Amino acid sequence: MQGKFITIDGNEGAGKSTQIDFIYQYLKNKGISAVLTREPGGTELGEKIRELLLSNSTGKMHSDTELMLVFAARNEHVQNKIMPLLEQGEWILSDRFSDASYAYQGGGRGLDIARISQLESWVLQDFTPDMTLLLDVPVDIGMKRVESRGKKDRIEWENLGFFNRVRDAYIARSQQYPDRIKLIDASQSIQNTSNQIQEILKIL
Ligand SMILES: Nc1ncnc2c1ncn2[C@@H]1O[C@H](COP(=O)(O)OP(=O)(O)OP(=O)(O)O)[C@@H](O)[C@H]1O
Ligand SMILES: [Mg+2]
Repeated sequence: MQGKFITIDGNEGAGKSTQIDFIYQYLKNKGISAVLTREPGGTELGEKIRELLLSNSTGKMHSDTELMLVFAARNEHVQNKIMPLLEQGEWILSDRFSDASYAYQGGGRGLDIARISQLESWVLQDFTPDMTLLLDVPVDIGMKRVESRGKKDRIEWENLGFFNRVRDAYIARSQQYPDRIKLIDASQSIQNTSNQIQEILKIL
């Protein structure tokens, strides 16, 4: 059987990490043992780049540098993990992928979408997920959910305007790629979100 590459994306506290476990379990019940991974990260080097991106001690970083670091980690992830696993017929579930660059570096930081797209083409050519589940939640609700975590990472210090732009950019992506990106209302209960996801997964 052919493997599939499924990504789960969305703004802070939308429930990505919660729902990726649900998807993993759902697939397992169908006899599919998926590989869980995440971005930025997913490989040894990628996780080191993640540390640079998220650590509060990293200091000042130009937005273009941030974009290139994210894509450097992604290149490592795709070349050394995702593609080889897909070739072996494995299913892969990734907590975030390229859409996050359009949302955070494009929407949040305000980088030109055309330049992000150029870099994406350079790094990934036409490699794209088979399906992306986009969990959407109003920024304030998402923030409240993650508040109890306490320690903020380098990105989480950004203001409300930043996160609203991130959310809007994600929604714009789903409108641009309606076949691949499934927009899910993640503002209700965990169970409610899982039910919506389960309905969508039936088409796989
Ligand atoms: N629909 C929901 N309703 C209420 N609480 C939720 C819901 N989904 C997730 N949570 C809770 O909110 C917190 C954040 O969820 P989770 O870590 O899955 O979000 P995330 O999208 O992965 O966040 P981050 O962007 O920080 O990685 C967790 O404590 C989780 O149990
Ligand atoms: Mg998470």
